[in-house]
Amino acid sequence: MANILCIGAGYVGGPTMAVIAQKCPEHRVVVVDVRPERIAAWQSDQLPIYEPGLEEVIRATRNKNLFFSTDVDRHVAQADIIFVSVNTPTKSFGQGAGKAADLQYWEQTARHILRCSASPKIVVEKSTLPVRTAEAMERILNTAGSGHCFDVVSNPEFLAEGTAIRDMQAPDRVLIGAHDTPSGRRAMQAIVEIYAHWVPLDRIVTANLWSAELSKLVANAFLAQRVSSINAISALCEKTGADVTEVARAVGLDRRIGSRFLNASVGFGGSCFKKDIKNLVYLCEHYGLVEVAEYWDHVVKMNEYQGRRFVSNMVSTMFNTLAGKRIALFGAAYKAHTDDTRDSPALGVCRALVEERAEVVLTDPRALENARASLGALAENVVFEPDPSAAACGAHAIAILTEWPCFAELDYQAVYATMAKPAFLFDGRNLLDPRSLYDAGFNVYPIGKPPLVHMGEQRRGGGTFPAP
Ligand code: NAD
Ligand code: UGA
Repeated sequence: MANILCIGAGYVGGPTMAVIAQKCPEHRVVVVDVRPERIAAWQSDQLPIYEPGLEEVIRATRNKNLFFSTDVDRHVAQADIIFVSVNTPTKSFGQGAGKAADLQYWEQTARHILRCSASPKIVVEKSTLPVRTAEAMERILNTAGSGHCFDVVSNPEFLAEGTAIRDMQAPDRVLIGAHDTPSGRRAMQAIVEIYAHWVPLDRIVTANLWSAELSKLVANAFLAQRVSSINAISALCEKTGADVTEVARAVGLDRRIGSRFLNASVGFGGSCFKKDIKNLVYLCEHYGLVEVAEYWDHVVKMNEYQGRRFVSNMVSTMFNTLAGKRIALFGAAYKAHTDDTRDSPALGVCRALVEERAEVVLTDPRALENARASLGALAENVVFEPDPSAAACGAHAIAILTEWPCFAELDYQAVYATMAKPAFLFDGRNLLDPRSLYDAGFNVYPIGKPPLVHMGEQRRGGGTFPAP
């Protein structure tokens, strides 16, 4: 039996530890956090995050071998293995602002572990960190003369929100990096043994510490790059009359390329893609690799362009003014099946439309509360409406910003009947069938496809393709 502790009870710490507790019933797993309200929520029926399948796993493990607590000191003292999954946002101040990772929470954790430890421990980096952060961690832990040995292991997390439980239960791979020393190898083996409870050994990949740390940033950069690549092509499709879905399908059927992560959209969001690429860019700059830094920075620039392009298309299509027009935004979460609105492209669109003085109505099945908090003072200018049909009632336009299945299930003929005319639908996720919407009466503007327009004079971007 091992005492496993996780510091940080967020989108990673909660789900990952719940699955470890489920799969390793002989281990005792405790998750701690400095935010008492978050811990109280984990102990209640109203979990602090929405994640499909999470409730069932929590119900099966909580207060059996999974515990949540704010008593960091006590649980650090008792732990054999400590996973650290605190937030590592982009630094917003000082040197490296806007690019470098803000490691203050990380370092506080290291010092906390040192202060409260009276025995050797394995410390596992679960948070996403710049390469060689383990070195700093080791220096803090091992040079302060505590007399205890701390082994630092990197075990970056690859789960995606919305599929976190499935990703944890059946991961493509688990990556574990450690030093090639006797104690490093022992520490690595201890972590391998946890995952080996349910992950086939050929999916547990071991590496040196720096490779493991870097691989996490690279995986996110590659995924984000695919989204930016297809979004760049969506702009060209709109100019030429090509259809980005058809292009993505044709290209993705090449097995060397693959079909996933080629859905054109209003842009990628979430707390990690942008932050991790910026972090990669900062690292490259630090090592003088200017061209490499610029290359990756363009993935983020393309993403920002796509969001701006979407809004500017809305404005120009709707007769160059949105002032006073009711616009229903379908979706606040950065993707479907999560309540997370961190860096959501939907809120980017929302902010831009408020600036245009539109009357913005935001609807989302799970994320309205977080959206309100994320928007801050701007929330006063936004109507939050849980029912999408009610949000669209009287609106001049609908913009689909999150690919929630419930938005695809609406009766758009009925929705159209309640809207101001001409009624526009901007599909930022290519969620809906443009032809049926057009037949229902909408002027339809998908991403990377020819618009379907009832008024002969409306064309996007001066395209020359024929009217339907
Ligand atoms: P989060 O903000 O949801 O959770 C982090 C938690 O850590 C917060 O509840 C915070 O209160 C707590 N915390 C901060 N400092 C603390 C301290 N000193 N002691 C105790 N608790 C402390 O963040 P997250 O989304 O879970 O991400 C955590 C890390 O995992 C980040 O580095 C992120 O890049 C990485 N990651 C996230 C995802 C994801 O899908 N969200 C996936 C893979 C990796
Ligand atoms: C991503 C990675 O997929 C995870 O492997 C990683 O662990 C995680 O980041 C992290 O480090 O935090 P996540 O951000 O939760 O996971 O969600 P994704 O499914 O990767 O989507 C990211 C964004 O890209 C979303 O806004 C999504 O809508 C968008 N996206 C994704 C597209 O616009 N098109 C696509 O084809 C795919």
